[in-house]
Amino acid sequence: MRLHPTGQFDNHAAHYRHIEAKPLAAALGAEISGVDAARLTDAQFEEIRHALFRHKMIYFRGQKLTHADHERFSLRFGPFAEDAYTQGVPGHRDVHPLIKEASDASKMVFGEGWHTDSPFLPEPPSITILRSVQVPPFGGDTMWASSALAYAMLSETYRRLIQDLRVRFSLRDVLAAVHESVELSDSPIGRLAATRGAERLSADLLRKIDGSAHPMVRTHPVTGEKALYVDPSYGIGIEGMLPEESQPILRYLTDHLTQPAFTCRLRWEADMLTLWDNRLCVHQAYNDYQGHRRELYRTTVVGEKPA
Ligand code: SIN
Repeated sequence: MRLHPTGQFDNHAAHYRHIEAKPLAAALGAEISGVDAARLTDAQFEEIRHALFRHKMIYFRGQKLTHADHERFSLRFGPFAEDAYTQGVPGHRDVHPLIKEASDASKMVFGEGWHTDSPFLPEPPSITILRSVQVPPFGGDTMWASSALAYAMLSETYRRLIQDLRVRFSLRDVLAAVHESVELSDSPIGRLAATRGAERLSADLLRKIDGSAHPMVRTHPVTGEKALYVDPSYGIGIEGMLPEESQPILRYLTDHLTQPAFTCRLRWEADMLTLWDNRLCVHQAYNDYQGHRRELYRTTVVGEKPA
């Protein structure tokens, strides 16, 4: 079933005193202005946090930040999370480079495929903060879809059916795709590609392939908002079900979640700072800027055991 805005969508901006918010799409997303992210006041931070939970993803333009500024901004939200893919840049182990060189002809890019960040971990990151330094002249956009809106738009009966289900999340299929499609390089997935053909995978990779099971319906720990916690990249099954039972449910829910009416799309500029709440939305990157360089940096904020 395909749904379109029906009057139940509510991405209006609240009235703030210390920042301005302008909605990006009917479903989710907002641009925040009136802020220097390197010099935030406590009052601005409180309103930014409110806007993040309300709009699921928010972004700022014109933020020329250093890695240290990026770290300080991120730490306002909480300690850094474990990053499943990289060890950071020299001197800043929690600032993770997402760089694709113009010469990299890989058929897959980091973040391709709808996903929530690292749900195969027992406590996946709550918030992700991504900063752009260099962007291609076209392409390289990011899209988000609201998992909260997708949940709200299911029928009451379907919501009851899935209420107690648990999804198994694993790195398995993404790792297989990386092995098939990614060239070796000094990038998060370029290094992962180097495990192709390995006789034995590291204990760390095996832990991420084994993954974690989490509730299919999550309740946001701050706002109490409920959201679907499924994605087509890492969600490989439903606890206690045979694959032929779980696959149609997962396929229906991920199709429902990622339908165009529930999305927003960001056209990046250099010096943007974008953040999203992984408990309330899924996102995906595009591999459509071959021959151009894209340089972004990412931090993630520690999350809780999904409930
Ligand atoms: C990600 O999945 O965090 C990457 C998003 C992007 O590079 O656009």
